[in-house]
Amino acid sequence: MGTGQDLYIRAKQIIPGGTQLLSKRPEMFLPDQWPAYYTRAKGSEVWDLEGRRFIDCSIGGVSACPLGYADPDVEEAVVGAVKAGSMSTLNCPEEVELAELLLDIHEWADMVRYARSGGEIMAVAARIARAATGRTKIAFCGYHGWHDWYLAANLGKGDELDSHLLAGLDPAGVPAGLQGTMLPFEYNRLDQLEQIVGGNQDIAAIVMEPVRYLPPAKGFLEGVRKVADQVGAVLVFDEITSGWKMNVGGIHLTYGVNPDLAIYAKAIANGHAMAAVVGRESVMSAAQATFISSTNWTERIGPAAALATIRKLEALAVPASLIETGNMIREGWLSAASRAGLELSVGNIPPLSTFSLNYENALAIITLFNQEMLDRGFLATSQFVPTLAHTEAQIACYFEAVDEIFPMLVDAIENKKVEVKLRGPIKHSGFERLN
Ligand SMILES: Cc1ncc(COP(=O)(O)O)c(C=O)c1O
Repeated sequence: MGTGQDLYIRAKQIIPGGTQLLSKRPEMFLPDQWPAYYTRAKGSEVWDLEGRRFIDCSIGGVSACPLGYADPDVEEAVVGAVKAGSMSTLNCPEEVELAELLLDIHEWADMVRYARSGGEIMAVAARIARAATGRTKIAFCGYHGWHDWYLAANLGKGDELDSHLLAGLDPAGVPAGLQGTMLPFEYNRLDQLEQIVGGNQDIAAIVMEPVRYLPPAKGFLEGVRKVADQVGAVLVFDEITSGWKMNVGGIHLTYGVNPDLAIYAKAIANGHAMAAVVGRESVMSAAQATFISSTNWTERIGPAAALATIRKLEALAVPASLIETGNMIREGWLSAASRAGLELSVGNIPPLSTFSLNYENALAIITLFNQEMLDRGFLATSQFVPTLAHTEAQIACYFEAVDEIFPMLVDAIENKKVEVKLRGPIKHSGFERLN
């Protein structure tokens, strides 16, 4: 228990949930031991409150920083925006420049609107889709933020979000009147979507990530596009996590299936607050028929950071190197596991690589992995999101540590000692009350 854990205990008393993002709760990695707070982050490195330096080989700021932390070019653009005045009565020209750049990348699209976070821009997209169609129901797959339109899915039986977000999520505070507006289908199950549409011709939108853990089955995305066209629903691809990693823009560009609205946040500005909906004029112009407007969506830092990020992603072909590093990580895990005799499989797109362990007490084993990696100077877990800033030498050091720890895990599994070796509780896997 260090200074960070002491601060986190205080935080939990005055900040419900302790943090602003579930995925950054220390309990998600290593309860009672995770450093919890940072003083500085640069490149692939993070310093905690005690000044200890870690190489971040974990979730990489929830995959928001493909260039690495505090990238010098993005930093320069942000400092420039701050020094030039990040807010005024007039609008910043960067938002027009950014719209032009986004439309160059998305030839199928005509218009752009902005917000400053992922959940927020998804709520904007849902509103635009409903305004454009005059309909209410939304067929969806996957996670799309915390807002009422989405959590309304759990107003029925209460388990609709179990396989899309978290099991057992209570939609407390979401107006009951929204019940029946959200219709879930599973990824790669075109038959489920067709069934939903068969019984509900009044669908406003189909909302999904184009890729979710698994690649799309042959014909799946094309099939979804066809269903949307047949029923007159707006097809929304949520690229908040999948965007800017496999290519410059959305992953849908790689698959050649275009939505009506593509949604970006997170990596679009290398972790600075920025979000965009890029879409066809026929749908986007409905933003004028309703009211979508916010003061802080006019500040200058977000668009300045996004312009610098996208230009650098393009100039250095960053997605290609994220794929290469991601593949190296997967191969590293697989060969270290086979040397150690650990039952491990890998998944997700290479720049968001994850491993899973095929054991009943997998959560405890991953907690032990996180604990041992932390002892060796790494923030690590069963996901490794590489950035441009990770060096080959750092990845080699990471795998030296993995090569020490995997055999130790196997020994602990075989001798039923995993829980005994833990110096704190087992990590959480999803939503759990903290007190
Ligand atoms: C696919 C997807 N949609 C929406 C969101 C919500 O974005 P934010 O956390 O910026 O509100 C996330 C965040 O992880 C996401 O992965």
